[in-house]
Amino acid sequence: MSNKNKNRIIIFDTTLRDGEQSPGCSMNLEEKLKMARLLDEMGVDIIEAGFPVASPGDYEAVNEIAKIVKNAVVCGLSRAKKADIEASGQAIKPAKRKRIHTFISTSPLHMKHKLQMPPEEVLNAVAESVTFARGFTDDVEWSAEDASRTEDDFLCRAVEIAIKSGATTVNIPDTVGYSVPEEYGAKIAMLFERVPNIDKAVVSTHCHNDLGLAVANSLAGVKAGARQVECTINGIGERAGNAALEEIVMALRTRHDLMPYSTGIETTKITKISRTLSTITGFNVQPNKAIVGANAFAHESGIHQDGMLKHANTYEIMTPESVGLTESKLVLGKHSGRHAFKTKLAELGFELGDNALQEAFARFKNLADKKKEIFEDDLVALVEDEVVRENERIKFVSLQVRAGTTGPQTADLVLSIDGQEQEAHVEGNGPVDAIFKAIREIVPHDKAGLQLYQVHAITGGSDAQAEVTVRLEENGRTVNGQGADADTLVASARAYIHALNKLQTKRSGFNPQTAKEATAP
Ligand code: KIV
Ligand code: ZN
Repeated sequence: MSNKNKNRIIIFDTTLRDGEQSPGCSMNLEEKLKMARLLDEMGVDIIEAGFPVASPGDYEAVNEIAKIVKNAVVCGLSRAKKADIEASGQAIKPAKRKRIHTFISTSPLHMKHKLQMPPEEVLNAVAESVTFARGFTDDVEWSAEDASRTEDDFLCRAVEIAIKSGATTVNIPDTVGYSVPEEYGAKIAMLFERVPNIDKAVVSTHCHNDLGLAVANSLAGVKAGARQVECTINGIGERAGNAALEEIVMALRTRHDLMPYSTGIETTKITKISRTLSTITGFNVQPNKAIVGANAFAHESGIHQDGMLKHANTYEIMTPESVGLTESKLVLGKHSGRHAFKTKLAELGFELGDNALQEAFARFKNLADKKKEIFEDDLVALVEDEVVRENERIKFVSLQVRAGTTGPQTADLVLSIDGQEQEAHVEGNGPVDAIFKAIREIVPHDKAGLQLYQVHAITGGSDAQAEVTVRLEENGRTVNGQGADADTLVASARAYIHALNKLQTKRSGFNPQTAKEATAP
């Protein structure tokens, strides 16, 4: 991709690859497509959509994303291996703009213990993999895995060879999050000084957050000349995560005086995409997380509130509106009819089929009976819940729960399995335990363990809808399910059933960086 404006920073999002690689963050096809649409809409330049050779599921996800993305370049990751590069080449074929990203380790530690390859062989693999990838697309990125712990001389040779073989972007990952800003910036500056053909490629940062320095390191890389930053929404990723997209973008925007760089990101879309990812993965961001944490724009102390009332700039360096944080709008009420409901959904970007619309309208009426005010966020949660459930084999039908101080707590649950209704009456240690046991009685799944059960309120007030996330794990595979309802227990049952449906169709996991490396294509 060309980068004519020398101060334009290319935002390479790897939420769907490096982010998805982290335990508990796996997403199914629909979820990945939803994220890809939002990333594209927010103006991300490159979407790393996955690692196509990993499994048929990964291949399909990259391939489907390649079909729907309108503006961004779609990228597939590959080791320095012919089969990987071919899989990426095929998967990204439908994309308007496509990139193959190929990588190999260059640090002495990784070459000796992980690759078990002598350095000269690694250099040959660099040349062969990049040359091979260029047969599929003109846009090829090469990464030196563990670059921050690679000797300068060797890194310079590898980068020069990659560019000579056709790499248009060279990425310098701090794979283990070991660098500090001065050092990482110096590494990038060193490459600009010593690699003779460095001007023929875009230099990229890819920093992990093990020491909490991923964003600072990335910005140091930019100051030293890097013009692509690899990052993820909410900073999800291997171990402590990757550099957070929202922090990079807002730091560049807010401190333009010191860092005169621009991105193509529509920052008002940040809050929505951050929340969508949290809901999908069940990974809530910490309340004090920069930009997207619940407290990031909250001013609690009296002194701060007083200052804010006098002049917002006293304590606010960016506005909540600039990241899309606005009050959820009051939309419909108890007396709103089907037409108003349908029109509002269309405005919010939902086109439902007749059956789904009918179901969603019935649930809306039910909600409006319980809750005086229905906000946009309520409608989005309700409709997304309906959409998620459309093709599920196991469906929630009804639930009666007995809870309180005098036990036993019980659940009477009816589910529909492939259209056949089945019921269970179960006692438990509390209502949630009883519900989950009832689900297990109807659909036995002894090997799956509950890893996370999380409830959050969609809007304020004690009548707010609950959004529940349930994470199940089976043989090392994890899935997240979500459920929304004004009744927390119904939402819990829906979330568990959603996870169970996903578990039945889930692919096996595969991590490109821990998988055995190839010698050459
Ligand atoms: O952290 C890393 O080194 C990576 C590479 C595959 C780019 O994710
Ligand atoms: Zn990484």
